[in-house]
Amino acid sequence: MKESTIYNCTIFTLPKTHNRAGNITALNNSIDLPFDVRRVYYLYDIPGGEVRGGHAHKELQQLIVAVSGSFDVTLDDGHNKKTVTLNRPNFGLHVIPGIWRDLSNFSSGAVCLVLASHVYDENDYIRDYHQFKEGK
Ligand code: TYD
Repeated sequence: MKESTIYNCTIFTLPKTHNRAGNITALNNSIDLPFDVRRVYYLYDIPGGEVRGGHAHKELQQLIVAVSGSFDVTLDDGHNKKTVTLNRPNFGLHVIPGIWRDLSNFSSGAVCLVLASHVYDENDYIRDYHQFKEGK
């Protein structure tokens, strides 16, 4: 597994097929993605000023995509932080395990697509920031 630092959370440029009628981005396991996808979910109708996330994962990897609109993802590995603005449907932020993340500054109508490496498991979450820091 990759070391859990924010520097190992990288932006993937996703394939985009363009023609005069618009664009399509298709994502295939083992070809276009850094892990095999077992779950897809998306956040939408997010009220202005709201913050999502506020947790880390023990094992889960995610690729976060702004399929519509824009938002910021702040990553924290317990030592360093960085904020990434996502605003294009063909860029995906790979978030590895052991990284605290907050999602904020959602634009009106933003849709946050998340591709995840595992099915939902509440036991994989670290929701207490002090507990997260103690593990670093
Ligand atoms: P959570 O992951 O805390 O949301 P976010 O990071 O977007 O702020 O999940 C919010 C709620 O949704 C929580 O009660 C669990 C539920 N949930 C599922 O049932 N399945 C899922 O795949 C996800 C991501 C969340």
